[in-house]
Amino acid sequence: MDIYVDSANLNDITTAAELGLCDGVTTNPTLIARETGSFQEILSGICKVVSGPVHAEVLSLDYEGIVKEGRELAKLADNIVVKIPMMEDGLKAAKTFKAEGIATNITLIFSAAQAILAAKAGATYICPFLGRLEDIGHDGLNLLAQIRGILDNNPDLDTQIIAASIRSPLHMVELSGMGVDILTAPGKVLKQMQNHPLTDAGIAQFVEDAKKFAH
Ligand code: E4P
Repeated sequence: MDIYVDSANLNDITTAAELGLCDGVTTNPTLIARETGSFQEILSGICKVVSGPVHAEVLSLDYEGIVKEGRELAKLADNIVVKIPMMEDGLKAAKTFKAEGIATNITLIFSAAQAILAAKAGATYICPFLGRLEDIGHDGLNLLAQIRGILDNNPDLDTQIIAASIRSPLHMVELSGMGVDILTAPGKVLKQMQNHPLTDAGIAQFVEDAKKFAH
């Protein structure tokens, strides 16, 4: 199981990398807009410090635009994965990129039906969004389990699941138990995973008791 950093922030990325939590990076236009610099500069900066896949989303919504932009993004670095929104032109573009040997991620997946289409189009990765589904009262974990089952029962559908829109350590635990290929999480969630009040209390107790041995 791989863990990616869901951020375009170099500080988040390097902090996670120091803990072995940066097998790759996912970005989207919203995450990149929070940083300073041009779209390409920010992505190139990330590719300089990350050796794993760096997912960069196209802004175009029509087939020709997606293909042109995706080819340009793919030239930024060898580890760029072209991220494409789930839509008909996006599916067509994914098929074109597969023929050209360019890795793709079809993102904004909210149903198993969309996941099937993305896998059939040849997407290297598919990105179901857990948190945004839960935000509207839907069962996001059930969707992830359903997609896992479909891929397991149909080995010809050769794509990897990236669980996205992760909001909590509990999401990380539930998804890990489900056999999702990749979890992409914001720096905040990766940090929250470290915490437990009993760990803090245990450390405080050991520090107190260790005073007996202090010179
Ligand atoms: C990652 O690829 C997605 O763009 C990201 O996880 C979305 O997260 P959000 O729903 O918290 O914006």
